Amino acid sequence: MLLCLSCCMSTRGQDLSKHLVIENGSKNAGYRSKGRHGGTLWHGVRAEITVWNIPDVQPLSSSGAYIAAINKAGGLEFIAAGVHVNPSLYNDNKVHFFTYWTNTSDYSTGCYNKDCPGFVQADGSNLYPGEPFHPPFSTYGGEQRGITIRIKKDEHTGDWSLYREDLGGPIGGMTLLGWWPWSLFKYLSNHAEIIQWTGFISHNYNETSPSMGSGHFSRELEGKAASFNGCFGFDENGYVFEDSYDPITYEDKPDCYNVSKWYVTNHATGRHFFYGGPGSCSEYK
Ligand SMILES: *[C@@H]1O[C@H](CO)[C@@H](O)[C@H](O)[C@H]1NC(C)=O
Ligand SMILES: *[C@@H]1O[C@H](CO)[C@@H](O)[C@H](O)[C@H]1NC(C)=O
Ligand SMILES: *[C@@H]1O[C@H](CO)[C@@H](O)[C@H](O)[C@H]1NC(C)=O
Ligand SMILES: *[C@@H]1O[C@H](CO)[C@@H](O)[C@H](O)[C@H]1NC(C)=O
Repeated sequence: MLLCLSCCMSTRGQDLSKHLVIENGSKNAGYRSKGRHGGTLWHGVRAEITVWNIPDVQPLSSSGAYIAAINKAGGLEFIAAGVHVNPSLYNDNKVHFFTYWTNTSDYSTGCYNKDCPGFVQADGSNLYPGEPFHPPFSTYGGEQRGITIRIKKDEHTGDWSLYREDLGGPIGGMTLLGWWPWSLFKYLSNHAEIIQWTGFISHNYNETSPSMGSGHFSRELEGKAASFNGCFGFDENGYVFEDSYDPITYEDKPDCYNVSKWYVTNHATGRHFFYGGPGSCSEYK
């Protein structure tokens, strides 16, 4: 860890591994709502995220997938939850569940999990921030494993709650994992302007780039590429946003990591898409 702290400082003196969104060292492939002039005011986001073991993440790089609620009116207010491999954060190469927040556009506030005050873990939570997942994971051409999470504004308190849906639970079939208190934010405490479903890597340029998702491009589709399933947003009344709604792609390096089209179906996975790409992408060697 000490080695890491000295070698992966950005020019602004921050430890890159401690932050999710890094302007020059992170690559995303996902979908997001159209933003403040193109959509509704968002009060929540949910999805099933398939969980893959990602074996090729070097010590100072990371790779994962998350859902996020964002407000940029005052700079950047950003909350996210998902899965990732981040060796310098955990000192291992396991897939971990994570939460993240920041309220400044230079990422000088906020953190992953409970590394700083902010995210509050609920009593009775069945998944704690930073908890490693255990096999079985999704397998290429085989069974897909995932977790289903929901980030939703609590209309009574103004806090943003994080729920897990796939194991059932006492709150409408969900379990409360925790919440980001309203007091962390000035604008996000009213609503999100953008919701996002994103695969990401963060890459130290001295290391080979990690794979994203299953390590296969999105064109391989069901059972082979990683996916976000049942991607829904919640509107200002707290209802699932049902109208015809086309989120826009968000691809930083589509020749290395890309997304499929946005599929709208009536079966359980609802709106879904595939994402990802292999590691050692030549652009980053
Ligand atoms: C990212 O790179 C650009 C161009 O090299 C540079 O101007 C900018 O300051 C960098 N941003 C960060 C956060 O390092
Ligand atoms: C951002 O978070 C910090 C805590 O790290 C808090 O002191 C500050 O008031 C917050 N800023 C806003 C605009 O809410
Ligand atoms: C890459 O390695 C060189 C030489 O060891 C070092 O000067 C540079 O800061 C490193 N860059 C990153 C992004 O870690
Ligand atoms: C993604 O990138 C790969 C490799 O460049 C390409 O073959 C594929 O057509 C792209 N699009 C999708 C949807 O996979």
